[in-house]
Amino acid sequence: MSKNIDWGKLGFGYMKTDLRYVSRWKDGKWDEGQLVEDNNITLSESSTALHYGQQCFEGLKAYRTKDGKIQLFRPDENAKRMNASCRRIMMPEMPIEKFIDACIQVVKANEDYVPPYGTGATLYLRPFVIGVGDNLGVKPAPEYLFCVFCVPVGPYFKGGMNPVNFTISEYDRAAPYGTGAAKVGGNYAGSLYPHKLAVEKGYADCIYLDPMTHTRIEEVGAANFFGITKDDKFITPVSPSILPSITKYSLMYLAKEYLGMEVEERDVLVNNLDEFKEAGACGTAAVITPIGGIEYKGNLHVFHSEKEVGPVTKKLYDTLCGIQFGDVESPEGWIVEV
Ligand code: PLP
Ligand code: COI
Repeated sequence: MSKNIDWGKLGFGYMKTDLRYVSRWKDGKWDEGQLVEDNNITLSESSTALHYGQQCFEGLKAYRTKDGKIQLFRPDENAKRMNASCRRIMMPEMPIEKFIDACIQVVKANEDYVPPYGTGATLYLRPFVIGVGDNLGVKPAPEYLFCVFCVPVGPYFKGGMNPVNFTISEYDRAAPYGTGAAKVGGNYAGSLYPHKLAVEKGYADCIYLDPMTHTRIEEVGAANFFGITKDDKFITPVSPSILPSITKYSLMYLAKEYLGMEVEERDVLVNNLDEFKEAGACGTAAVITPIGGIEYKGNLHVFHSEKEVGPVTKKLYDTLCGIQFGDVESPEGWIVEV
């Protein structure tokens, strides 16, 4: 390793790495795309990405295996979800193969930034599409940029695999038939203030309820929610304003096929948290973060423990990470070697 990085101390923060990928869409097609050194983008002051939030992004990771290889986890799913986001806000789609190729090129070009096996750290890839070019009215941009950069990262929530507490927000992150299921920047701009309030109250982040009735759990900050019932069912909420988490759908499969659990996507009522013996947040950045407790209307509901990880959460974590780091046999097609 030629980079002077303390891998074990990494958090979830930006660091400039060597090369990033850029492709431009113009006159109805994407160009070849290339790796560039410059981490600044020059764009028209009238770009739709700047004024009307016409942009979306993705997040996936590259993992170093025990034998030193590098692999991606389900990048085709990120490509498909990015295209779904693009359709929702009228941006051009990216061929899945081109998306994956761009990710591979970026990882190869920054290989020295892929953390060593055993450090727990990973290389986070951030693909994004932005509307650019001269434009004034509220309409789709004349040109687009698709870029992928990468950053070595550690845990997203400070606790890592230790439980952290969350508080229920009075704010909504997305409207019922709005853009909650798309990974568009506006959803995240709206979450900054509720996040700040949660942190000021001493919580890791806030949990959003369904915007229509404020009775059902939707998202845990920038991660999906799951709960384990007392009879060992894996439960996760369903709603059109939740981002369909690739980690969540992977866990549903692993819970069923690897751990023999029953799995259900259904309403999770904030007034019925007692039904769960364990709970967690899941996502690419969050991985699996055990939820110690949830504060709602002045009461803290503690699940397994505020200090220790529950046994089912631990098993799910070991299975998921085992696959991602190449120690556990993966379902077919989940792993792409770099
Ligand atoms: N929910 C939100 C709002 C997110 O931003 C993310 C992150 O991508 C997730 C859930 C988890 O999704 P995934 O597992 O695909 O990373
Ligand atoms: C991810 O998990 O990849 C995310 O995008 C979450 C957050 C950093 C926005």
